[in-house]
Amino acid sequence: MNGKPETLAVGQLTERKDAWWLEPLLTVVVLVSFGIYALYVALVNRNYEWGPYLSPFYSPYIQASWWPFSPAFLVLWVPLGFRATCYYYRKAYYRAFFWDPPACAVSELRKSYSGERKFPFVLNNLHRFFWYLSVIVVAFLAYDAIKAFFWQDGFHVGVGTLVMVANVVLLGYYTFSCHAFRHLAGGCMDCMSQNKTRYGLWKWISHQNERHALWAWVSMFGVALTDVYIRLVATGHLTDLRIF
Ligand code: FES
Repeated sequence: MNGKPETLAVGQLTERKDAWWLEPLLTVVVLVSFGIYALYVALVNRNYEWGPYLSPFYSPYIQASWWPFSPAFLVLWVPLGFRATCYYYRKAYYRAFFWDPPACAVSELRKSYSGERKFPFVLNNLHRFFWYLSVIVVAFLAYDAIKAFFWQDGFHVGVGTLVMVANVVLLGYYTFSCHAFRHLAGGCMDCMSQNKTRYGLWKWISHQNERHALWAWVSMFGVALTDVYIRLVATGHLTDLRIF
């Protein structure tokens, strides 16, 4: 050993022998599957509601006479834009789709780096604005979940109600553990102790932010599974169990 870092031979990506490719592969499979499922759900434009339940892909439900396509498309661009510009997902898809780099100690494929200054990646800088819009969407989903408790002039708790509540909770953790929200809560303060409320909020967000990747994945599965459940009930393949 002469103290110099070892260099890889040309064309050799890495000297790692473990399954470093597994994580990027799984990321590609899951993200592509979710994208295809979201597109399918939006295109079919039916079986997205049953009784007091409404699929999260169609909430808030916007009926516009001037819009000839599925109403899901009027809403979906917000959560999809939010996730596509998310700091965590950026790391995940840059690694998985662009091999930029795909894993630690594995070479990158591209030769130059232009950051996020060119289209379409420059759009990632809009993340904070997608956060504002996503908070509105989560508020509508919370309203849908609360509304599901009141059905047919009475109090109603079905498995679907609990599924919708769980979906809102998971999305809430994902949305409010966002890096942009953390900056919003704790930014532009010379001294944190000046504002105890903001400091307390910043500390809570920072704590949740450490699990942001977990909330990102779990909430994504939550959205898909909530839709699957409502869809199965709406098509008669499943009977919603009424608990109360
Ligand atoms: Fe992931 Fe904002 S950084 S949602």
